[in-house]
Amino acid sequence: MAGTLPVFGSCTHAVVRDIPDSLAVEALRMSGGESVDMEKARREHQLYTGILSHKLGLQVLQLPADHSLPDCVFVEDTAVVCGDTALLTRPGAPSRRREVEAVKKILEDLHLNVVEMTDEAATLDGGDILFTGKEFFVGLSKRTNQRGAEILADVFKDYAVSKVTVTGTLHLKSYCTMAGPGLIAIGSSEHAQKALKIMQEMSEHRYDKLTLPDDQAANCVYLNIPNKGHVLLHRAPEEFPESAKVFEKLKDYMLIPVSNSELAKVDGGLTCCSVLLNKRA
Ligand code: GLY
Repeated sequence: MAGTLPVFGSCTHAVVRDIPDSLAVEALRMSGGESVDMEKARREHQLYTGILSHKLGLQVLQLPADHSLPDCVFVEDTAVVCGDTALLTRPGAPSRRREVEAVKKILEDLHLNVVEMTDEAATLDGGDILFTGKEFFVGLSKRTNQRGAEILADVFKDYAVSKVTVTGTLHLKSYCTMAGPGLIAIGSSEHAQKALKIMQEMSEHRYDKLTLPDDQAANCVYLNIPNKGHVLLHRAPEEFPESAKVFEKLKDYMLIPVSNSELAKVDGGLTCCSVLLNKRA
C-alpha cells in the first residue's frame, strides 16, 4: 500500500436517499410489529442528514426516493467504499437489487473507481461489512453469502477479509460497528458476543470494545472531522437510556444522540442510511 493511511473515520461526502412512501407497508422486516409513523420517520431522517451536512460539514448528496423500491433509504447496503474504490453490491433481497442503479451513477460522478458485482451467484449487503481501518469482517447472513465475501476480498486486496456467521439479526452491523479507531461497539446479546469472539479469534489485531446493553445501540456512526476530532452519532437516550450512559463515558468525543425509532421498525440502524466516503484521500 503506497502513501500514508488516511485517519480512520475521515469523511468528506455522504450519499443518502429520501424515504419512499412505500416503506411503511412494503419495506422488508424480520418480524411484524408496530406500524411506521412516516411523518416521524421523515423528521428523524431529516435530522440525521442535517447533522451530517450542517453540523459536521460533509457534502451530502441526496438521492430522491424511488417509491417502487421500499427499502431504498438504506443506501449502505448498495455499496462498500474504501479509499477511492467503491464496490457496488448485489443485495441479498431480490426486491432491493435495483437500488444499486442510482447509487452507481452518483459514485461514478464522484470519480470513484466503481466495481460492479456481476456474478449471479454472489449476494452482499453493505450492512454486513465491517471495516475496522485495518481489515474487513464480512457477515455471512441471510443477505450475504460466501461468493459475495470472496468478491469483496478480491476487490479490496490490500486488506485481510474474515468471515463471521451472523445469527439472531439481519446484518453483522445490526449489533456491531466501529465506535472509534480500534474500538468495536458491540451488543450484549449472546449472538453479538459470539460474533465478537469469532472476530477476535480470527484477527491479528487487538481491538478495544465498547459493550452496549442494547444490540441496536451498537449500531453507531463514527467520524473523524477536522477541528472536531472524534464524532459519534449514537441512538438517543429516549430510546436506549442504559446504552446512552455507556456512550456518555467516552472522553474527548463529540457525542450526537440521534433518534431512529421509525426506521428501526423495518430493521434500519444509523449506519444504514448513508454511504460515507473520503474524497480528501
Ligand atoms: N428493511 C431493511 C432490509 O430488510 O433490508
